Amino acid sequence: MQTNNRYLWNHKDLLCTEQLSSEDVFHLLDLAKSFEEINRRPVRKVPTLQGRTVILFFVENSTRTKTSFDVAGKRLSADTHALSLAGSSLNKGESLLDTALTLQAMNPDVIVIRHSSSGAAEFLAKQLSCGIVNAGDGWHAHPTQALLDCYSLRAAWQNNFEGKTLLILGDIAHSRVARSNVCLLKKLGVDVRLCAPRTLLPPAIETWPCQVFNDLNQAVEGVDAVMCLRLQLERQQAGLLPSLSEYSKRFCLKPAHLKLAKSNVQVLHPGPLNRGLEISDTVADGKNSLILDQVSAGVAVRMAILYLLGTRR
Ligand code: CP
Repeated sequence: MQTNNRYLWNHKDLLCTEQLSSEDVFHLLDLAKSFEEINRRPVRKVPTLQGRTVILFFVENSTRTKTSFDVAGKRLSADTHALSLAGSSLNKGESLLDTALTLQAMNPDVIVIRHSSSGAAEFLAKQLSCGIVNAGDGWHAHPTQALLDCYSLRAAWQNNFEGKTLLILGDIAHSRVARSNVCLLKKLGVDVRLCAPRTLLPPAIETWPCQVFNDLNQAVEGVDAVMCLRLQLERQQAGLLPSLSEYSKRFCLKPAHLKLAKSNVQVLHPGPLNRGLEISDTVADGKNSLILDQVSAGVAVRMAILYLLGTRR
């Protein structure tokens, strides 16, 4: 799909994939593509966002999202500043809103926030005038992850989403990545399957626009891509799983499963990986794996997001 020349990005914030039209998505992915080659230059910096300020406000742990937003901002010459829970005055009892209003008083263009509570980014977007990017809120949404997944699949599938089938495998109940990806990929015409133990499927799963499986051998049959999800051990309640070894016996993605999929099946994982639990080493490091491509795509996609939100004012 080509974007319209008169197209205008019209969002102050990026909170979820539901807010994006397919034209928004292709515009953002095209822009990310145009930024991609900057990341391969000997000098990986352009002046595009010179004088702009981006604050990375991460109240939950992160390696990929936080670092790639930081790298993305710096490669576009924005000034980036990071604040984490550890070392912040949230630990002295300051509220989320007071902390965010304090950061806004420093006049940033964009605040990127990760928080363990669903709705935290939307709450701040309503209170603040600067752009807010949701870098993951509780179980709710992780739109920038879904966009970079989409970017990686677009490259692997030569720009053709229609008629492709993707399986999302694992801890869907606790996954903001699954929620954001289902919404985004369905919008682009991808057929999405889900596979998990019954206890790791969210409530009202029958309302999701997906075929649901409990048997991995059936679920993987003929798919074009498999997205493994991390078993979110920190969010499990007692009794959801009989044991980790039982889980890995039935739901860990192994080479034998890939033989049931299309021959050029692509394997994705948002990271971090529990190797041997949800994905075997051979699959994670094998020729079908896009896992490190996803990380590289994260920088280009986040450059595009910072550009779109950071140049609105
Ligand atoms: N995929 C993802 O969000 O990874 P991080 O938690 O390392 O940012």
